[in-house]
Amino acid sequence: LLIFLVFVLRCGLSKVLDLPPENLIKSISAVPVSKKRRVADFQLSIASVTEDSSSDCLAPGLHLQAQKLAERLKCDAVVSEISAGPGTVNFTINRELLAKTVLQQVLKDGSEYGVKSELFSTVPKQKAVIEFSSPNIAKKFHIGHLRSTIVGNFIANLKVALGHEVIRMNYLGDWGMQFGLLGVGFQLFGNKEKLKTSPLQHLFEVYVQINKAAEDENTKKLAKDFFRKLEEHDEQTLSLWKQFRDFSIDEYIRIYKRLGVHFDEYSGESFYQEKSKEVLKMLENKGLLQKTIKGTGIVDLSEKKDLSSFSTVMRSDGTSLYITRDLAAAIDRMNKHNCDSMIYVVSKSQSNHFQHLFQILKLMGYDWVERCQHVSFGLVQGMKTRRGEVIFLEDVLNEVRSRMLQNMASAKTTKEIEDPMETAEKVGLAALIIQDFQGLLSSDYQFSWDRALQSRGDTGVFLQYTHARLHSLEQMHGNEQLTHINVACLQEPDAISVLQHLLRYDEVLYRSSQDLQPKHIVSYLLTLRTGLPEPARLCLFQAARSVLANGMKLLGITPVTQM
Ligand code: ARG
Repeated sequence: LLIFLVFVLRCGLSKVLDLPPENLIKSISAVPVSKKRRVADFQLSIASVTEDSSSDCLAPGLHLQAQKLAERLKCDAVVSEISAGPGTVNFTINRELLAKTVLQQVLKDGSEYGVKSELFSTVPKQKAVIEFSSPNIAKKFHIGHLRSTIVGNFIANLKVALGHEVIRMNYLGDWGMQFGLLGVGFQLFGNKEKLKTSPLQHLFEVYVQINKAAEDENTKKLAKDFFRKLEEHDEQTLSLWKQFRDFSIDEYIRIYKRLGVHFDEYSGESFYQEKSKEVLKMLENKGLLQKTIKGTGIVDLSEKKDLSSFSTVMRSDGTSLYITRDLAAAIDRMNKHNCDSMIYVVSKSQSNHFQHLFQILKLMGYDWVERCQHVSFGLVQGMKTRRGEVIFLEDVLNEVRSRMLQNMASAKTTKEIEDPMETAEKVGLAALIIQDFQGLLSSDYQFSWDRALQSRGDTGVFLQYTHARLHSLEQMHGNEQLTHINVACLQEPDAISVLQHLLRYDEVLYRSSQDLQPKHIVSYLLTLRTGLPEPARLCLFQAARSVLANGMKLLGITPVTQM
């Protein structure tokens, strides 16, 4: 729709002005709906037509240009009003046409509304490997992992919706000296039954216990031996480690499911223990590996080659480090998937790590490093559950569900709901996600259960409530036939501004797809729900609900139909 109008406007303009339209038009976009209601639907930003417009008088010059332009344009059956602003020409579309076109498009395209827009037609379809979540076995699943999980899921959802191919990858922390300790710990304190029924909790407890015991030299030596055996592929040792990993993954899958998240691949550091030896050899062959007096291996990253910046890639005993495994993993990912982009969704506390990783890959001659991106996010402070510090993802999910259930019970809505537990969980998750996605991902924020779970205001709870309410209106009145849309009823300013807002959905998706920030979609949906007028036609509600549901699903929220 948008592109069609742009086309019409451009052709019209170039005819009137006898100029190639590219010289004139910087951009055309739907006018954002703000608190001060606007009348125009589209806005054309113009570039200077005359060549001698010097920069200091640009604004008044442009204003004149816009005015001249507006005067020379004529309204027709599509455009009912044309006006000029500073550097812009504003178009108002025939009201009935606007209502009809927008509603028909939204209801016809359904879940594809917006993504089918011509805005995306020139964007080539690509393949992306997106790594996110990536917790460490036997350690805490902290809030950073939760943030990575919901952000990565959002990016993957958005890319898939836009027709790209996506590999969702989880890169587990499943290797390293701590598995020596964990192995010894399990021999001392482990319980096979508990390992099967609640592996994450059990392994964490064993790990805490053995860490206390590891003070003594004997345990330390045992742990070292265990890990050495692992590295030498001793069958028995490896089989126990494999159980740790397999049972943990089973439990992760179950919990991720509650979040509506899945992975195509469970990779992990353990895959790259052998391959990182090859990486070290490659670094050596390329003359990039230097040995320090202590015997560790480093790569000089400084421009002047004065070691003012370097990265350690090998321990003195010749074994690999976190970054060495990441080097091997990146090379393997690219070989295997030959993707157009490789995205790492990891906290900004690891920014240095990823900078080094990409720098070394570049030095090694891998040009595809240009396609690698670290999507970093800020710190979340103060998330605590009633049990105290967050240790497991499941704690967070249970906490949000029980808090939400309590709120629902005091609002006395639960009795009509078929499955209050499930509804509470979905609404609670919406609350977490919306609180997290409201700002720029790179900023830190203070977590607050109360703020997140408020039933009014800019919260996921209120979004869910709006969706449920629109849904029940539809249930009560049945679907309205598109052919019977009576556009005359949609002329009040509130209805028009919702229509204008619906018109902008593709632009908002486009922005998020460019900078991978969910906040554009979040604020769009929040505006959509505040803008809904009480007396309006059902088809407007239907259209609004459809777009609301589409956007929520992209963010990783399952819309509820009652609450
Ligand atoms: N397991 C790591 C941690 O919890 C995150 C892994 C990030 N991804 C990577 N390719 N290094 O800190």
